[in-house]
Amino acid sequence: MEVKTTTETISELAADCLVLTMYEGQQSAKGSLKEVDEALQNRLSELIASGEVKGKFGEMTLLYNWGQIPAKRTLVVGVGNEQKFTLDKLRDALGIAARFVRDKGISRFTFSVSEQLGEPTKVVRAAIEGVELGAYRFAGYKQATQSKDTFEEMTLVIDAALDQESIQKAIKRAKAAAEATKLARDLVNEPSNLLTPAALARRAEEVALRRNLEVNVLHKQEIEQMGMGALLAVGKAGANEPKMIVMKYHGNPASKEVIGLVGKGITFDTGGIQVKPDEGMEEMKTDMGGAAAVIAAMDGIGALQPQTNVIAVVPACENMVAGNNVKPSDVIPSFSGKTIEVIHTDAEGRLILADGVAYAKHLGATKLVDVATLTGSVISALGYAATGLITNQATWADQVKQAAQVTGEKVWELPNFEEYQEYLESEIADLKNDAGRPAGCIQGGIFIGAFAEDTPWVHLDIAGTVTTKKDQGHHPAGATGVMTRALLELIAPSDSI
Ligand code: BES
Ligand code: MN
Ligand code: ZN
Repeated sequence: MEVKTTTETISELAADCLVLTMYEGQQSAKGSLKEVDEALQNRLSELIASGEVKGKFGEMTLLYNWGQIPAKRTLVVGVGNEQKFTLDKLRDALGIAARFVRDKGISRFTFSVSEQLGEPTKVVRAAIEGVELGAYRFAGYKQATQSKDTFEEMTLVIDAALDQESIQKAIKRAKAAAEATKLARDLVNEPSNLLTPAALARRAEEVALRRNLEVNVLHKQEIEQMGMGALLAVGKAGANEPKMIVMKYHGNPASKEVIGLVGKGITFDTGGIQVKPDEGMEEMKTDMGGAAAVIAAMDGIGALQPQTNVIAVVPACENMVAGNNVKPSDVIPSFSGKTIEVIHTDAEGRLILADGVAYAKHLGATKLVDVATLTGSVISALGYAATGLITNQATWADQVKQAAQVTGEKVWELPNFEEYQEYLESEIADLKNDAGRPAGCIQGGIFIGAFAEDTPWVHLDIAGTVTTKKDQGHHPAGATGVMTRALLELIAPSDSI
């Protein structure tokens, strides 16, 4: 989508569709709404007065302007209660509007950046992200061609008094964030026969090539030679061999600080020999959602070029069923040197992340974030509304939470009490990978934390947020690309770029 700006008066603009927002219960038209209303001889205020247009969140009213103003149509988008309004609500409302307009075959969108909605650069970001992400559609494999997934053009109407340079920066940033998020969604939506570990590695290589990043993929033999026993144990039953994918961005060569992003890349999770129930197993193609967020964040980082060093580490494999499977009771080595007793073969994410996190440290990461569709238990705790967070360092966790707050991605911290450490104790190995039902999400998190050791580390469990069953605001049904924007915001804070 091409994003243009104009400082022309909205009622005099030639456009396919003017998109205006309205709060719930707003008695009369204000700002751009008022301007358009007057130009349309109060047709809008008439609709508001009659109660036909209420401004309820997600309400869409499409008017034809029939030559009264140069723009062909006006779409009034309800954004709900003014007191409860946030930029994420704007992102959602414009996401809904984008699908509404797109389904009518309209491919140009003109939106007025009114100060009534918030700080203009933030409104610009939320608006572009909302439209781009709301109109997203996975290309898929149907024979019949679908209508296009995006708009040709979005025009932002900006007050001439505003600093145009900061607006342009916000546009660049929003486009990078939206593009990265769409990449993450594409990866998650891809079926597992097509997105094998090798295919995921190729996608990371494509990103690296496009963004001029360093990339290195370890193949099975090297994984063996390096002693990455946990990744090998999980991946050995898969006919498609495991890969360890590494991407590097050097934005601050003078600094020794390196942020390590580690993503769970299980391209399909059958549960292993303790195979999952049949119902819903197809959803386990999304078990590489952490990997997708990390690879996509690197794409955004490459586009924005922040002054930070970042490495991305993605252990990738299939968790399959075969005669050579890892079994409950097996003791396996890991890259860190720690031995692990496997209690449950379906707790495979923490195993591969043990090697991922240890390898990221080995490569020089001084701070860590791991992202993983790790546990069903996080869904029991937080439902589908929020990503679970566990940490060993409050300051680092605050930075991650702050970044996610900016991007409107909800995260909620779960405790890392000392009492939980006993869940990791094995009779015959350094650790075991499962201790039954209690605090399942926390167990998974602190298992990974044991490999982060003293390095500041944050774990993000996205099992509940990686997909949505139905269209929700700027998330069409399917993969959400969750945490891509939060990671990008963490590494390239909006005020610094
Ligand atoms: N990939 C799953 C977690 C998951 C569940 C992701 C639902 C998305 C939606 C993970 O590998 C898993 O199977 N976890 C087990 C761990 C248990 C066996 C200790 C779980 O949560 O049940
Ligand atoms: Mn599993
Ligand atoms: Zn899994």
